[in-house]
Amino acid sequence: MPSKYQPFCIWFTGLSGSGKSTLAKEISKKFNQLNISSYILDGDLMRDGLNNDLGFSISDRQENIRRIGEVAKILLSSGIFPIVASISPLELQRKKVKQLFSINQFFEIYLSASIGICEKRDVKGLYKKARMGEIKDFTGIDSIYEEPKSPCLNLDTGVMSIDQCTESIFKLLTSNLVEEK
Ligand code: ADX
Repeated sequence: MPSKYQPFCIWFTGLSGSGKSTLAKEISKKFNQLNISSYILDGDLMRDGLNNDLGFSISDRQENIRRIGEVAKILLSSGIFPIVASISPLELQRKKVKQLFSINQFFEIYLSASIGICEKRDVKGLYKKARMGEIKDFTGIDSIYEEPKSPCLNLDTGVMSIDQCTESIFKLLTSNLVEEK
């Protein structure tokens, strides 16, 4: 059921292992407590289905992000808050997807854990594979990640705890909630 608030899109960007999926889940839980319907669009899961024809070239990533953006827009039009967790490595890709939404409908949150930290964590074991040459075009290793120039929030998830990040994001989001007319 749509909530009583005007929906907006929350877009997490950052390296693999920077905490995008984790924080997306935390924010979704917090929204639930406020009876706000949200839906997580996770890069990994989107690539299992809708985007399973796409790889990791710059143009495939662009298409991946465009499609995620379009799905987010559909959710938003039905009153649901989309929460996107996608590396979305290039400024131009993020700029284009942002243009799908109106002002105040898009919150870009940059999780700025360094490559060193993400690689050390290596939750999925993918950095190791990338270093061994088993995965090509891996973001941060042999494929570029451009830092967002002006995100709504920049959180160093290499230093801050999950709870600290969740609080900080939730504060920003709740201060931007506007009731439906
Ligand atoms: S994006 O660059 O197009 O936004 P997306 O967020 O959908 O990427 O997918 C990233 C996920 O795909 C990573 O979290 C990781 O699990 C997996 N993955 C597999 N190969 C790569 C790669 N070459 N670069 C980055 N992530 C990869």
